[in-house]
Amino acid sequence: PRPIWFSRHGESVFNSQGRIGGDSPLSARGILYAQKLEEFVHSVYRPDDPADRANPNLTVWTSTMLRTGMTVAGLNQSWEVIKWRCLDEIDAGMCDGLTYNEVAAQFPEEYRKRKEDKYNYRYPRGESYQDLFLRLEPLLFEMLRHTGPLLVVGHQAILRILYGYLTGKQPEECPDLPIPLHTVIQLTPQAYGCEEVWHTPMP
Ligand code: F6P
Repeated sequence: PRPIWFSRHGESVFNSQGRIGGDSPLSARGILYAQKLEEFVHSVYRPDDPADRANPNLTVWTSTMLRTGMTVAGLNQSWEVIKWRCLDEIDAGMCDGLTYNEVAAQFPEEYRKRKEDKYNYRYPRGESYQDLFLRLEPLLFEMLRHTGPLLVVGHQAILRILYGYLTGKQPEECPDLPIPLHTVIQLTPQAYGCEEVWHTPMP
């Protein structure tokens, strides 16, 4: 079986400011990561390998947002990139664009409620992690049916769900799973569970 690789987009301008959501472009570091990610994929996925020849097509799945689009721009030249709206980051509703400190100051009750039950908490006019599970369910089935090598370039909350599901975590654990920036998580499905290797293409 071919691995599934998960990566967040490169660091965005909002990431560098600690802001939630938005649709900001990559920072300079984020642009560098996009290059490193491309080099990484070229180094681990060799279409001229006999093993790969039977299945030469790497597929890249990503969201419709600017920061993911910029991250896959180079990969786009060599491989098929499919943009899924269901891979867009959690909708933070009225907290979109704020820092966590601003949320705590402007909406203390919301901040407290989310801390108390992050999985079920739904941002006003936005989404909860539970909502994400529902919106990602069809894609999870697609992912399990997918036979070729797959790279998913996504977002923090989205990848917590996909990664958590594939590694057998409880849904309630997913909102707190660490999915750092500039890291590629490689999962290879086995008879029981997944073999897991983390790569950091950019130290
Ligand atoms: O901070 C980056 C980000 O992708 C935000 O856009 C999103 O709201 C957040 O991570 C999700 O993480 P958490 O659920 O821990 O706030």
